[in-house]
Amino acid sequence: MKPQVLVTKRIFPEAIEYLKQHCDVDYNENDDGLPNDQLLPRLRGKQAILAQLTNKFTAEVMDSLDGLKIIANVAVGFDNIDVPAATRKGILVSNTPDVLTDTTADFAFALLLAAARRVVEGHQYLHAGLWRKWAIDLLVGQDVHHRTLGIFGMGRIGQAVARRARGFSMRVLYHDPVRAPEALERELQLELVSKDQLLRESDFVSLHVPLSDSTRKLMGEPELKLMKKTAILVNTSRGPVADEAAVARALEEGWIAGAGLDVFEKEPTVHPALLKLTNVVLAPHIASASVDTRREMSMLAARNAVEALEGRRPPTLLNPQLWDSIANSKGA
Ligand code: DGY
Repeated sequence: MKPQVLVTKRIFPEAIEYLKQHCDVDYNENDDGLPNDQLLPRLRGKQAILAQLTNKFTAEVMDSLDGLKIIANVAVGFDNIDVPAATRKGILVSNTPDVLTDTTADFAFALLLAAARRVVEGHQYLHAGLWRKWAIDLLVGQDVHHRTLGIFGMGRIGQAVARRARGFSMRVLYHDPVRAPEALERELQLELVSKDQLLRESDFVSLHVPLSDSTRKLMGEPELKLMKKTAILVNTSRGPVADEAAVARALEEGWIAGAGLDVFEKEPTVHPALLKLTNVVLAPHIASASVDTRREMSMLAARNAVEALEGRRPPTLLNPQLWDSIANSKGA
């Protein structure tokens, strides 16, 4: 009998085809996902699940799972899964790093440029038929080139954003509890600084940290008030990393000049004040949404599941120590 896999939400068809070559697939082919009261009964008898960030795997949910070998998340972020609880329960967890790094960094830069150069305001101005004449200060924005970019989180995506900044001759500051390798600092001319220095000196602040207890509300009122009045905040990480109400006030009251936001605290709900503002560019959590990248994310999650089910090490495991202990106990 083939192993049983549950796919909780629509993914790219190539990944379903691949899964079907190796497993019996229970495919919930829509974008609504499965609330836990439907997810748990449907998980019975399954050995793998392809989950998305809207599926919450708390310790309590994990305790009710039996016989599950792997949760393959179709995302690089995994704040929807209690990985230590999964490990205790003997469930492997994987995510989809690398395949989305450049695409996400491109989008962070797109938001940065759009907010700085008022691209969306210009678009709306024309659509509203308001353009009558050229004017010297029509929709003047902030320069990007030769300005200072502050990056919170110098992981894969932070590094890819720093690379793009080099092309714009920017000075790049970063803050991260883990210092980047010296060679990388040299190559990208990165300066490790304190949180306050980054906030005070940056013209653009871009967030690239995972969501955890230590990064929740990393950008709150005190942090936003430390930023320059001409500065722009970009968030493509997770909504709760910034205090959305404080960001809305910062934009309304001019503590900062603008923002580009792809993620929100209670998606798909957006703080109502943000929806009324013109100095913010808003996107519906699409930083990794290129056709190729979303296909690759679907495929990588499917490969992780199949590898685990066929007894091979999944390529992008979040709890490799569990794999090692399973492998060791088999060898023993
Ligand atoms: C991720 O991968 O974590 C994104 O937020 C969804 O693509």
